[in-house]
Amino acid sequence: MPGVQQMSLLPHPEQPLARSSAAAKATATTATAAWESEISKLYQADCIEWLGTQPSNSIHAVVTDPPYGLVEYDPTDHDKLRAGKGGVWRIPPSFDGHQRSPLPRFTTLSKKELAAISTFFEAWGKALLPVLVPGAHVAVASNPLVSFYVSAALDAAGFERRGEIVRLVQTMRGGDRPKGAHEEFPDVSVMPRSQWEPWVLVRKPIEGRVQDNLRKYGTGGLRRISATQPFGDVIRSQPTGVKERAIANHPSLKPQHFLRQVVRAMLPCGEGVVLDTFAGSGSTLAAATNVGYQSIGVERDAAYVAVAKDAIPKLATYANGTPPPWE
Ligand SMILES: C[S@@+](CC[C@H](N)C(=O)[O-])C[C@H]1O[C@@H](n2cnc3c(N)ncnc32)[C@H](O)[C@@H]1O
Repeated sequence: MPGVQQMSLLPHPEQPLARSSAAAKATATTATAAWESEISKLYQADCIEWLGTQPSNSIHAVVTDPPYGLVEYDPTDHDKLRAGKGGVWRIPPSFDGHQRSPLPRFTTLSKKELAAISTFFEAWGKALLPVLVPGAHVAVASNPLVSFYVSAALDAAGFERRGEIVRLVQTMRGGDRPKGAHEEFPDVSVMPRSQWEPWVLVRKPIEGRVQDNLRKYGTGGLRRISATQPFGDVIRSQPTGVKERAIANHPSLKPQHFLRQVVRAMLPCGEGVVLDTFAGSGSTLAAATNVGYQSIGVERDAAYVAVAKDAIPKLATYANGTPPPWE
């Protein structure tokens, strides 16, 4: 694992980034971590409640994969997934004889459910904002059908939009012929086959110029891949492979190869704390550990916390054979 720093978690509240040893002092949190390593901690909590207990100016970046439509991880619909009985989750059609993993479908969300996305992400953004240092970047995984609600809600919460990271990935969403009329309309797809995943990118407003903010907090920009290559907003990816899925059994597991690129870019000076408020099986924490960053995760579901405890160290050292672009 390249460059894992042995340092205590979290800079001091109200202080600039851990660019000085004083700023690297551990900070008290109100809850006991469910799991921790030298550079990473995982809490079992509701993230908005947890954020309300955190010191201001203590987090330098967020990389997170929330429930895109909210309902899929609500106890009602999630229990249906666990029981293998539908709800918002559906099994994509199998065309090659292999059983597919369930995917939540967002075309069925009602107006009320869509409005709830806006309400939730604005509340999340407002809870997050004071906990972040100025210039902290926030990357939020989403879906083309709902990402604009998330983006607008974060704008309303006080963040500035900095673009969107496109994860190029062929998924099983879309591309279907009209239900019940496949033969009548063989040349028609109801929606495009989805081949990308948007990650909304926003930033907490900076103090002064970017260079001032970088000096004071170590944030405000993005870490380059190399001297000649900036971080780009399109990243080629694959669906999460079976070997990673065997390590971390979570229905929304993101692949390390992709996550490491995003996480690494979020700390322009290579220092600070990365937060994932919807940690699932801990894949962001694993990616942060792999690139040598401190990280904190929050996950409310006890079963996924249990998965994460086991999975984080294994995912952190997982190699899929494709080196990252900075190696
Ligand atoms: C899309 S999944 C994240 C999966 C993760 N990217 C991975 O690779 O394992 C979203 C996670 O957020 C959790 N969650 C939903 N609402 C939450 C909340 N209010 N606070 C904390 N966790 C929450 C869910 O239990 C679920 O595990």
